[in-house]
Amino acid sequence: MTIGIVCAMQAELDVLRDALALREIGSGSPWDLYASRGESAIALISGVGKVSAAAGLSYLLSHYKVTKLVGIGVAGGIAEDLRIGDIVICRGAVQHDLDLTAFGYELGMVPGLRIKEFKADRALVAKAVTAAEEISLPVQIRQGLALTGDKFVAHGEGARLRQLYRGDCVDMETAAWAHVAHLFGVPWVAIRSISDQADGEAPANFKEFLGHAVGNMSQLVLRLLASM
Ligand code: ADE
Repeated sequence: MTIGIVCAMQAELDVLRDALALREIGSGSPWDLYASRGESAIALISGVGKVSAAAGLSYLLSHYKVTKLVGIGVAGGIAEDLRIGDIVICRGAVQHDLDLTAFGYELGMVPGLRIKEFKADRALVAKAVTAAEEISLPVQIRQGLALTGDKFVAHGEGARLRQLYRGDCVDMETAAWAHVAHLFGVPWVAIRSISDQADGEAPANFKEFLGHAVGNMSQLVLRLLASM
């Protein structure tokens, strides 16, 4: 069994590098790939945005026998109760910028598949919830819905997306990973740590709190991986 780990940016993986004894593999591929203890886990840095996320994860899933997938990274919090440093265990993900309403589809719905919300694997979500109960972090950790699009959400846009989709956090990869995982039949869960609140301060807060957010997430992710 190989666990796949996917993130968008190097900083999101660096916090796990030592604990997972990650070593770089796959030179020649366009993506940064790392293996942990043999190939019990393979980590991929897919890059930012839906195309990078989908292309990178497709590469990972077609070259390695990944049986379970964990997506990790930071996100903008759009639910009223989420603060910077809190963590969302994503129970589902929607592409908020996918709009075929002109053809009668619901906003966010993938034509062909007729799926709007890609649902995380219930057993993996349950494992993440248990992992959260077993660690002690002075932040809120709760389940939520991730909204993904090719846009860094700021300046009031977060409130609009909250209203439209009742999502909890915004990012630029989770639903793309979920879509690809669905196509490959691989169960997934994603953990997103809040780096900003998708508001006017979001660009500055993202830079300031990226390190804090990924640091918070690492304990939970390690505990989850150990239980899988
Ligand atoms: N990732 C972290 N913060 C984000 C935001 N505000 N919008 C999109 N992706 C993000």
